[in-house]
Amino acid sequence: MTKPDRQTTGNAALDRLLGGGLEPRTITQLYGGPASGKSTLCMIASVSCLRAGGSVIFIDSEGFSIERFRQIAGNDTAAIADRLFLFEPVDFDQQGGMITESDKIFRQHKPGLVVLDSATALYRTDLEKGRDAMQQLTRQMLQILGYTKRYDLPALVTNQVYMDTTRNTFAGLGGTSLEHISKAIVRLDRLETPGWRRATLVKHRSRPEGASFDFEIVQDGIRAKE
Ligand SMILES: Nc1ncnc2c1ncn2[C@@H]1O[C@H](COP(=O)(O)OP(=O)(O)OP(=O)(O)O)[C@@H](O)[C@H]1O
Ligand SMILES: [Mg+2]
Repeated sequence: MTKPDRQTTGNAALDRLLGGGLEPRTITQLYGGPASGKSTLCMIASVSCLRAGGSVIFIDSEGFSIERFRQIAGNDTAAIADRLFLFEPVDFDQQGGMITESDKIFRQHKPGLVVLDSATALYRTDLEKGRDAMQQLTRQMLQILGYTKRYDLPALVTNQVYMDTTRNTFAGLGGTSLEHISKAIVRLDRLETPGWRRATLVKHRSRPEGASFDFEIVQDGIRAKE
């Protein structure tokens, strides 16, 4: 039986947007431009899961900021850091290998959450080299999806944006396969007011699209507008 309860993102406003939090056995995707808050939200969710006693696999293709983790985890940093399993791939092949390797960790430690931040940073580099990265990305996502089902946990992946010149708008990288495999998608935008961001629900199985909330990035995470 599928566990009905969702897992908190560590932020009440984001939980509400997602209809209660991250859905186990599925992939939730956050996408947005530079400094829109993707990594911050991944860290908040990770810290929250670690505090609850789960283990977190965090695959970071852009260089994990330990300083930022410390800010968000605060006094709990030392107590929870040993259950954070950090992988930092340098290319897309290595990213795939690390996703495969991470299964061993969940066999030995209480599974809590898988984070891939970002799914497409290294993919983009490969794409520029003209390789068929799309299939590889799909394979990586299917493998992560497999873990969410095997271990009954949610996955959180981030995605970068590119300018879609035909639609004259920013769209997520990774094409339709990444879009389909993510059962919930949240877009993050920087607002004109300095410091403010907006999180908008783009896709969800049981909630209307277009719902949103505004937030600021602060020392220990984010603060949603009242
Ligand atoms: N302690 C802090 N207090 C306030 N704002 C902070 C703090 N630490 C980081 N920020 C802000 O957070 C933003 C970066 O957020 P984050 O790293 O989550 O974005 P991102 O979407 O992951 O960006 P990228 O695409 O570059 O990976 C920056 O604007 C930065 O100024
Ligand atoms: Mg980031």
